[in-house]
Amino acid sequence: MPDDEDLERVAEGYRAFAGEAAAESPLYSALAAAVAGDPAVLRFLAGLPQGRRAPTLLFGALAFLDGVPPDGAALGERVLSDSDRLRATMTDRTTQTNEAARCAALLPVLALIGGPLALIEVGTSAGLCLYPDRYSYSYDGRPVGARQQVHLSCTTSGPVPVPEGLPDVVARVGIDLDALDVAEAGDLAWLRALVWPGPAQAERLRRLDAAAAVVAGDPPVLLAGDLVERLLDALALVPAGATPVVLHTAVLPYVAADRRALFVEQVRGLPVRWVAQEGAGMVSGTGKSYPGGWGPYFVLSVDGRPVARTAPHGGWIDWLPQE
Ligand SMILES: C[S@@+](CC[C@H](N)C(=O)[O-])C[C@H]1O[C@@H](n2cnc3c(N)ncnc32)[C@H](O)[C@@H]1O
Repeated sequence: MPDDEDLERVAEGYRAFAGEAAAESPLYSALAAAVAGDPAVLRFLAGLPQGRRAPTLLFGALAFLDGVPPDGAALGERVLSDSDRLRATMTDRTTQTNEAARCAALLPVLALIGGPLALIEVGTSAGLCLYPDRYSYSYDGRPVGARQQVHLSCTTSGPVPVPEGLPDVVARVGIDLDALDVAEAGDLAWLRALVWPGPAQAERLRRLDAAAAVVAGDPPVLLAGDLVERLLDALALVPAGATPVVLHTAVLPYVAADRRALFVEQVRGLPVRWVAQEGAGMVSGTGKSYPGGWGPYFVLSVDGRPVARTAPHGGWIDWLPQE
């Protein structure tokens, strides 16, 4: 039975989320604040395994099952009346938000790496970030690539090396504990449920559907398993003559600190280029980390060296002064 301290710990996490989510999703901010003050919902959450109590997972599961509740009272009612299905969803699924817009920050650094490129994405979710060459871009209004269904607009500050064209990608390999298949209706519905309601929701859903169609038309190789354990298997799939690029975005906060360190050590020892877009400090040497590993911005690093701050869901890139 969860005690008062357990409930308070869960409530604290939801109060913190209410503050962090306010701009992007006023509704999720309000729901999180309501959860923090609802002992019955807190008891339900505290009864779930550690790592399965997060607001993003609760709200994603509610959205997936029957849509987002309009207010805290409706949420409390849903949690009580539908607790078995909710518990099962929150136990079976994890937060796997896949955001193609993150490619707008990857593109400038991928363009600096000599190709052709073999992309190996660890924590790939459904693989939408493995197709930076199939999307079109505009940086402060300057177009890159012929216009595509997935068009990513990005504002820049600092001397961002905006490329003239798109990289030549000859292989795409994704590794994930539980890779999602965009061709499977349940997986696509889960990805859609993870998009927060708010001012950007309609655009993000449109982009998700369009990127999913790109992936479905030319699926990547997906390897099931842990990023440390499957990395060498992925590397073995790189065609001769291609430059292997290990990349990851929004993954390392989910990985325990000792495994994270092991992964970083492993990548550093391999003959690969390495592009990471993660919360500050998740790759050593990229700043002081925020609680939980997330923060108001991501740090883009190349071969472990920080080069830019970027928007967590894409949309801006701020190039750091280089030594
Ligand atoms: C938030 S999603 C990010 C997906 C994608 N990289 C993006 O930025 O759109 C994080 C993904 O990392 C995966 N993941 C977490 N820990 C992992 C591990 N140890 N090994 C492989 N994948 C992992 C999760 O299953 C999830 O699909």
